Amino acid sequence: MRIEIILNGKKVAFDVKNDEFLADTLRANGVFSVRKGCDTTCCGLCTIWIEEKPVLSCAILSIRADGKNITTMEGLHKEAEEFAQVLVAEGSEQCGFCSPGFIMTVLAMKRELKNPTEEEIIHYLTGNLCRCTGYLGQLRAIKKYLGVA
Ligand code: FES
Ligand code: FES
Repeated sequence: MRIEIILNGKKVAFDVKNDEFLADTLRANGVFSVRKGCDTTCCGLCTIWIEEKPVLSCAILSIRADGKNITTMEGLHKEAEEFAQVLVAEGSEQCGFCSPGFIMTVLAMKRELKNPTEEEIIHYLTGNLCRCTGYLGQLRAIKKYLGVA
């Protein structure tokens, strides 16, 4: 089936199989910020936005994305870099494997939560499991980035 989506602001069309998942479609078409760590909706590495809401692209059939607005980190360079700089300043940067999904979640959180509490931030991050570098440094960076530190 042929699907048409708005990918990072540009209209594109992809040929997809009926049982193909969006993470695979995006990667097959050069969107390499989308990573896969588990393929079973457990790790959050494949987080992208559909209609501005974070979703796990390993669990969304590509045909269900037809006609939707899809955002990946390729479309959010400036914001992603701003947040990455805060992570670095706090010594809490992550590896290139898990960073994109984590950053997509934090940028969505910034849009969705107004003055979140620490508990709300932690809850929002529940789906992004891989934080090998620790937890407190990232929490510190997120609070600073959201202006709630
Ligand atoms: S690859 Fe999608 S949640 Fe892990
Ligand atoms: S896999 Fe990237 S910090 Fe754990």
